[in-house]
Amino acid sequence: MNALKVSVWRGGADGVFEEFEVPRHPSQTVLDLVTHIQRVLDPTLAYRYACRVGMCGSCAMTVNGVPRWTCRTHVDKVIRDDRVEISPLKNLPVIRDLVTDMREFFDKWARAKGHFRGGRTKNEDLAPVPPDSEDRKRVDAGIECIGCGVCYAACDVVSWNPDYLGPAALNRAWTLVKDERDKNFLERLRAVAGDAGCHSCHTHMSCTERCPKHISPTAGIAGLKRAVARAALQGEL
Ligand code: SF4
Ligand code: SF4
Ligand code: FES
Repeated sequence: MNALKVSVWRGGADGVFEEFEVPRHPSQTVLDLVTHIQRVLDPTLAYRYACRVGMCGSCAMTVNGVPRWTCRTHVDKVIRDDRVEISPLKNLPVIRDLVTDMREFFDKWARAKGHFRGGRTKNEDLAPVPPDSEDRKRVDAGIECIGCGVCYAACDVVSWNPDYLGPAALNRAWTLVKDERDKNFLERLRAVAGDAGCHSCHTHMSCTERCPKHISPTAGIAGLKRAVARAALQGEL
């Protein structure tokens, strides 16, 4: 039988890798490996997934050192010497095995004022946003984020400074800063202007290289830096 050696993180932050042998199949994904281990070899293995088709983002893990959606990662693409190493996403507390605690990640969306605040009541018409407006195109480029945490796990600045809001929360803030219907503009710029905000980004691009949705948080963060500088020069912050 053609088998793969799969090392899987077990335990919490102070856990260790445990090795399993998993039968090899054509078109096998990394999530298939984890599922085989949990269903056949060790039912106590904790991991998370939902859609299996690249829509929910909940299957994100570190595969041979790189954060990825495991359901969309074929074993052929990542295998090294018939081995695969799978561990939880970096930069997040480990609950157990391959499951991380995402609370901090989403708390940062809240800190970055990542919620829409419109100015119209339900009795008024919807605000029209022309599809070809420049701001609408900028929003479109970042709006498909599904909050998977891959970019956050790839960001070295989050590792150095756990207070840093990180690429996903800042990308979200950028899409709202560019949304002409949103009325929270200055409050949001203040939220992202501090030490933990956009100016801490070192433009390493790891987030942009890793995002499975081909979003560029780096570009959004650069836009936030410009918007903050402009507002500061105009004495608005
Ligand atoms: S920006 Fe991309 S990598 Fe980051 S959370 Fe959103 S979808 Fe995931
Ligand atoms: S570009 Fe900025 S947010 Fe993205 S990984 Fe680099 S430092 Fe982190
Ligand atoms: S299980 Fe939903 S994206 Fe992988």
